[in-house]
Formats: sequence, C-alpha cells, structure tokens
Amino acid sequence: MPEPTITGDSAAAIADSVRDLIARGELRPGDVLPSVRALAAVRGVNRNTVAAGYAALAAAGIVETRRRGGTVVRALVPVAGEGASALGDAVNLADGNPDPALLPALPDLRGYSTVLYGSPGIDERLGRWAERHLLPDAGPDGALVLTHGAVDAVERVLSAHLTRGDAVAVEDPCFLSSIGTLRLNGYRPVPVPIDEHGMTTDGLRAALRAGVRAVVCTPRAHNPTGASLTARRAEELRALLAAHPEVLVIEDDHFSALARTPYRRVTPVGTARWALVRSVSKFLGPDMRLALTVCDRDTADRLRARPAAAAWVSHVLQHLVAGVLTHSATPARLDHAARTYADRRRLLTDALAAHDLSWSEAADGLNVWIPLAGVPEAVVVNALADHGWAVRPGSLFTLAHGPAIRVTTSTLLPEHADAFAARLATTLASITSESPCSPA
Ligand SMILES: Cc1ncc(COP(=O)(O)O)c(C=O)c1O
Repeated sequence: MPEPTITGDSAAAIADSVRDLIARGELRPGDVLPSVRALAAVRGVNRNTVAAGYAALAAAGIVETRRRGGTVVRALVPVAGEGASALGDAVNLADGNPDPALLPALPDLRGYSTVLYGSPGIDERLGRWAERHLLPDAGPDGALVLTHGAVDAVERVLSAHLTRGDAVAVEDPCFLSSIGTLRLNGYRPVPVPIDEHGMTTDGLRAALRAGVRAVVCTPRAHNPTGASLTARRAEELRALLAAHPEVLVIEDDHFSALARTPYRRVTPVGTARWALVRSVSKFLGPDMRLALTVCDRDTADRLRARPAAAAWVSHVLQHLVAGVLTHSATPARLDHAARTYADRRRLLTDALAAHDLSWSEAADGLNVWIPLAGVPEAVVVNALADHGWAVRPGSLFTLAHGPAIRVTTSTLLPEHADAFAARLATTLASITSESPCSPA
C-alpha cells in the first residue's frame, strides 16, 4: 500500500491532515508517522512547524511520542474492569462482586410518580438521607451531586479540573477502573505505595513533589488490598495535602455502608477542590448505577453544567435506592452482610496462615491480596486455574508493584478456604523448587 501523504504547510494544517488520514483509515493505530525531519523536508517547512503539529496531536491524545519508536497513532487502550468471564467450572474467587444473597431486597415502585424534563435532579427522600448520613462527613460547605456510580464520579470530577497529560496520584496497587480511567483520559498515573494503613506518607510526599494535580484515595477497605486509613495516617496525609491546597482530592469511599473500619477524612479544610464519593454498588449491587458525591461548590457546579439529560440519574433508580436506605430493616441487613464478608475474609486468611502463606495484613473489603515475592504471577494463576480456582493476576491492579494475586472472598464457602490455601501452598512450593535460582 502506498505511504499515506500528509499535507499542509502549517502546524494546524499538518495536524488536520493526519486526523483526516486516520478518519479515512489510511493511518491506523500503531502506524508510525514520518520523522519530524523527513516530513519537514518533504513539505519544505521548518522542523518546528512539523513538531508543533505533532505536539498538538499528542496533546489531543491522537498520537503518542515514543522515545525510540517515533510518533505513533494511538490505539484504544484496553482496560480491565471488575467481573470475570469464561471461568468454566472453576471456583470464582476472581470477580470482585458482592454476594447477591447479601444484598437487601429492593422495594416495589409504589410511591414513584412519573418524572419529566425540568423536574428536580435529586429525589427528596434521597437528598434528606444524604443530608443526615453523608454531608456531615464532608464538612459544612459540601454540595450533593449524583452520578452513575463511583467510576463515573471519579472520571467526571477529574475531567472537570484536569487536562490530558496531568499527573494523578493513585494507590499502588489500585482499583482497576481507576487505572483505566486515568489511561483512557490520558492522565499520567503516579503510583503511591500502600501498606496496611493506607496510602503511605512518603509515597504521597513524593507524588506531590512530582507535581500531581489530583490525588485519588480509598479511605477504607481498599480494593485490592483491604487497607483502611488509621487516624494517624489520615492526619499525616491531611498535613501533606494541606501544603498543596491547589491539588484536587477525591476520596472513593466505595465500601462505606459495609466497612468495619470508620471513615477517616484525608481532605484538609483548606483544599479548594475535593469530592467524597459513596457508591451503592457494593451494598445494593453494581447494577444500581448510583453514587452519592459530596464536593466543593465549584466542582458541583461543573458537574451540573451539562445538558440536564446527561447529568440526570433516573428517578426510578433514586426511588429504589432511597427506599432501601430509609427502610427500617436495612441497618440490620447491612450489618449482617458486613459481618459475613469479614468472616469469609478471615476464613481465607486463617487458612493461609495455617499453610505458612502471607498476605497483605489489611483487613476490610471483599478481597485478599497475596504478594508473590518474585514468583511469576501468570504461572501461579494458570496453575490455580488448572486445579479449578479462578483468581485475578495482581498486574491488573498495579503500576509498579511486584507480582501478586487478588482473591475475592465475598462468596467463599468454608470448605473452599483450606482447599484453596493448600493448593496455593503446593503451587508456590513446586514453582520455587523448579526455579533455577532456588537453593539446591
Ligand atoms: C475502589 C472502588 N471504587 C468504586 C467501586 C464501585 O464503582 P461503581 O460505583 O462505579 O460500581 C469499586 C468496586 O469494586 C471499588 O473497588
């Protein structure tokens, strides 16, 4: 096929020409553009003109510049999400879902009346519930906004304030969809190591020094490690962030109603732009695409500044969520679910301990994170799959962290715990003994 011809004598015209070639399919993802020098010679223009055209394309996320590989047409970034498919007969310890049997029953739709264009955005009962149960956690100046879940909230809050190429601090390891959101939108993830007390102070300090414009933090029941902030750690992080009031702080408190650990705020009082996001996915089910977000007023205005139909969270959904949240039986149901998840998690960690295996010591949420100390995780995941156990490879959740696996315990049966731990111990022992580096 002949080389596609890039035309134009100005930076804007060269950039437009590349866009046209991509739109016509004459340039495809992965294709390398001519070097700046070569195109400048062909077009008879200054190299700076071509470089400016390419820079505009890179800033728009249309091409990317690779150090040795030149300027390349960007491909769609594949991003993983929660859930797991094609498990066959394997025991599902992979999907990150809540146990459907532990979700409160939904009320019927009696009392719902048709909502038309121009009606208020937030269901009255839901708004009142948020005033009592959510707004106090965020201080007196917060405004309530609804989104289609936490992932939607995080993406929209980031895009309200950031542009492509901006650096964003995230825990490492990190929730899959947060990594996906950063990659898809062209933000630069800056990994902040996490220990059993949450994001580390040194890690956040380094990220702030590196010039991050936003921090996304999971205050408790971190996915995948289960870490929750202690009062002391939260205070340390708050003190660091207080010196950077221009940095946007997003707290993704996804496990809220089920958490065994209290919410500890990391957003300092002086931070100008912030959001506390509470999804209902974990305690009412991920199909209830709704998160209650309380944020500063500027951010709230930006989130609302969309065509009303785009910001609209269905009132049918709001009615159902408000019905569950205000039902007298709900606190007991949620308490039962929280205790059951904690028990199932402990079943697995006790079994791991009995087989001399170690895991991330943090203890809340639906998952157990097992670092693999240098053992290749794909080998472990495949070996477990061969014996009927589906888990997720840690690399899906990590930016710089070493090999690990994530085990979802939300539906773990008592008889699974020891069988799984025994299989993992055998697998690791056999891989280690086969390794050329292992002692004879
Ligand atoms: C850290 C974190 N945030 C948010 C969510 C839920 O996101 P959404 O409300 O979009 O379903 C999850 C679900 O696994 C999670 O682990």
